[in-house]
Amino acid sequence: MAFVTRQFVRSVSSSSTASATAKKIVIKHVAVIGGGLMGAGIAQVAAATGHTVVLVDQAEDILAKSKKGIEESLKKIAKKKFAENPQQSITLHFPVSSVNVSFLSRQQAGSEFVEKTLSNISTNTDAASVVHSMDLVVEAIVENLKVKNELFKRLDKFASEHTIFASNTSSLQITNIANATTRQDRFAGLHFFNPVPMMKLVEVIKTPMTSQKTFESLLDFSKALGKHPVTCKDTPGFIVNRLLVPYLMEAVRLYERGDASKEDIDVAMKLGAGYPMGPFELLDYVGLDTTKFIMDGWHEMDTQNPLFQPSPSVNKMVAEKKLGKKTGEGFYKYK
Ligand code: 3HC
Repeated sequence: MAFVTRQFVRSVSSSSTASATAKKIVIKHVAVIGGGLMGAGIAQVAAATGHTVVLVDQAEDILAKSKKGIEESLKKIAKKKFAENPQQSITLHFPVSSVNVSFLSRQQAGSEFVEKTLSNISTNTDAASVVHSMDLVVEAIVENLKVKNELFKRLDKFASEHTIFASNTSSLQITNIANATTRQDRFAGLHFFNPVPMMKLVEVIKTPMTSQKTFESLLDFSKALGKHPVTCKDTPGFIVNRLLVPYLMEAVRLYERGDASKEDIDVAMKLGAGYPMGPFELLDYVGLDTTKFIMDGWHEMDTQNPLFQPSPSVNKMVAEKKLGKKTGEGFYKYK
């Protein structure tokens, strides 16, 4: 009897898994809204893994800059990828063809990888005109709920029925963004890390309204990008930023109190904790405006939490437009 029950349970669970799998969306066509560092990085990794990508931003000059950045990043990757183990023959898989690298010089293969990837990316300044043919729309625009809501509300009218919407927000609640649409079941968080081509993690955030099918489709998509997905409830900062941002702000407070120099704090965390960058290097890399925005939002939500207190020095630097690497100066100066 127990055997029969177990068999029954097994067959029910395997057939329900099979039907869930059958219903999953295989994501091939992706629109990325926002051509900044994150958006360009997401577009790049999607294109490099055989997806067709439309990168959208408001102006042609922004898109030209994004594409230039993508090309530079791809060249770095190609240089490393095709210099590795030069004796070994490898096969590159592109959507339409396979190329056996043993017949090509490594340099040629690298150029071909860059060209093929770039050819998978087109650009557009009108998101509404492209979303009808997309399986997935990933938003990576300014961290402003009103702006995100307006964008998604508009795209909801033009996108195909099956299209999944995802936000790469670093601090806002996905539910609040999804509420602007009529497709809350096809809406989730897809949070990447800077620099996207190098960082292996993606946080896939399921709201109470996100369907299992959407969630699983996004897990598969993350894996197809060569990333490792983790999941978390729709809570502020998800996993990484909830731990990382308070740590970065604690480093600033240590420095503000005069307990240690920023240089020593950076060296300490690199050599003592094995972090690839010290907190001040990372703050400059991520952008002080981004960190301030996250912290201000959390402080507003919970003013008493000592981990969410704004920092006078970060506020001052943001007011002076010293945002880090992207403006040439933050905690450090960049040429
Ligand atoms: N594209 C392609 N290749 C890149 C690249 C990019 N954008 N950035 C770096 N690389 C390559 C370099 O070419 C170099 O290649 P090589 O080994 O062949 O020389 C390699 O990566 C290492 O780069 P560098 O020598 O310049 O410097 P590092 O060894 O320090 O590595 C790093 C750079 C990968 C950025 C590393 O310092 C790192 O992992 N830093 C931590 C980054 C991090 O914590 N990111 C998360 C931020 S939080 C976030 O994004 C969330 C958001 O919501 C705020």
